Parts: sequence; structure tokens; C-alpha cells
Amino acid sequence: MKPDIIVTTKLFPRTQERLEREFTCHKLHVAADRAAFLKDLAPRVRALATFGPAGADAELMDALPKLELISNFGVGVDAIDLAAAKKRGIIVTNTPDVLNDCVADTALALTLNVMRKFPQSESYLRSGYWATRGGFPLTTSLGGKVMGILGLGRIGEAIAGRAQAFGMKIRYHNRNKKDVAYPYDVDAVALAKNADVLMIVTPGGAETEKLVNAKVLDALGPEGYLVNIARGSVVDEPVLLKYLQEKRIAGAGLDVFADEPHVPPAFFALDNAVLFPHVGSATMETRTAMGNLQIDNLLAHFAGKLVLTRVV
Ligand code: 8YV
Repeated sequence: MKPDIIVTTKLFPRTQERLEREFTCHKLHVAADRAAFLKDLAPRVRALATFGPAGADAELMDALPKLELISNFGVGVDAIDLAAAKKRGIIVTNTPDVLNDCVADTALALTLNVMRKFPQSESYLRSGYWATRGGFPLTTSLGGKVMGILGLGRIGEAIAGRAQAFGMKIRYHNRNKKDVAYPYDVDAVALAKNADVLMIVTPGGAETEKLVNAKVLDALGPEGYLVNIARGSVVDEPVLLKYLQEKRIAGAGLDVFADEPHVPPAFFALDNAVLFPHVGSATMETRTAMGNLQIDNLLAHFAGKLVLTRVV
């Protein structure tokens, strides 16, 4: 008999297919009566599969007293109430490492696009301006510039490697200094002051909420660029918008926003911002690997083994 699990939201189809081969999946997001759905499953559901923003809150955990494992699709677990899970002895797993390369690729793509204005230069050509107005205005080189990495974890290291291949120098700030060769700055303001590109790679959640605020953007200054591939919550978004409109920073490359998928339309009018719809890990290969890791955690748990990538 396949174990019962609850799926909180629509998943990547390949992951959903494999989940259905391994488990009896009950879809919370299509339940007509959420309370009745949970009440019916409460006596037998020991695991939950969730995805990024859908997360899992304390109320959901309370409705499932037999819950032992929350298996997340995604490395970020900011939408899961970790304290509530810990208190109830519920294990939480995520999908680290398998997405490092793709997210780091996206970080460099944003850096290149915002500094070299490649998207704008392409629309310039498509608008016919090359022939009528001449060459596209000159932009800014990456080589020799300093990338300040806010949150030098596994993804941050992958970004650092790529940025160095583009001739950039690396500095970083973490809560704790690491045993690495890169120069360390004591806080986000100091890092921004020393950087040409401030790269946000921290986790989301309460601890990093609006960490990148007016003070940090002032330190980055009118020649500095901001790139965010982490979480929109890390930046004070209205302040960032104002700084971009007033050219108080040179530009921003953003893959994440405060209230996805709702991006304030004022961002669309900016010529100094490059905006991606949270595509950091969005390749077939990486999403497949993330789904497989999510499922492998579930399988390990039901086999009575240790899960592979435990968060709490
Ligand atoms: C995913 C991400 O798009 O892993 C993460 O934390 O932000 C992205 O890789 C998202 O989590 C989907 O769940």
C-alpha cells in the first residue's frame, strides 16, 4: 500500500507524476472544503509535500496531528513556520545544492544585463533605431568591478566563482565570518559601500526582512547596482523603486519581488532595471532534480531512514 501524503499546491508536473507513482497524493489546493479534507486525512497523514510560497503554517500543522515530515520543493523555507514545526517535532526538508548552478547563472545573467543593458540594446535594434539613431549608448564593464555578496552560502560561492571568471573581485558579508579568502565586511552598509554590485543571496524570513533599506542603497550610491536572486522580502521594495526612479542607484537586476507574482507596475517603466519572473532555478534539469530530492526525502522517511536534506 502506498503511503498517503498531502500536496499543498500545484507542483512541477514531472514531480507530481513521480509523487503519484510513489504515494497516494491528496491535493489540498483542489479540496472543496479544506476543513473537511484535513479532518478526514488527519488520522493517517504523516507527510506533506509543499512548494516555495505555499509553505506550511502552524494552523495546518495543528490540523494534522500525525504529521512527521514537511518536504519542500525549493531551497528557501521562509514560507514554512519552522519554529512551529520544531515545537511539534516535525522534520522539515528542502532541496539545496541541486539548484546552485542555475541560480548562480541567473545571478550573472542579471548582472550582465543590468550593467551592459543587453535587453535594452536588443529592443533598440528591434525598434529600428540602430539605423536611424546610430549605435546604442555605451554601458558599464563587469571586469575590475567589485561584487559584494550578501549571504555567502553555497549559492553565493557559485556566484563568486562565476563573477571571478568575468574578472570581478569578490567581497562578502555573512552573520559569521567564514574561512574564505574573500574580504569580509561587518554589515550590509559596509559591503554596499565597498561594492559596485551588491548581490543579495541571503535566505528570506523575519531575520533578513528589509535588510537592504535606504541606508544600504545610499551606501551603494549612484554608480552601484543591486541584484537580488534571493527573496523580495530582503529589500525595502518601495524604497528601491524610488531610488531607481530618482537614479540614486545605477540599476537593479531583480528575479524576486515582495508579493510575487504581483510586481508593482511602476517597475515596468524603469530603464535601469532588468526584471525576471523568479526564474532562478527554472530549468527542466534543475526543477527535475529538485523534485527528485523532495521525493527522495519522503521515501527515506517512510523507509525509516534519515532524510537527506533536513532543515529542522
Ligand atoms: C524556486 C527558490 O523557484 O528554491 C528556492 O527557494 O526560490 C526557487 O528555486 C521556488 O522555491 C519554487 O518553490
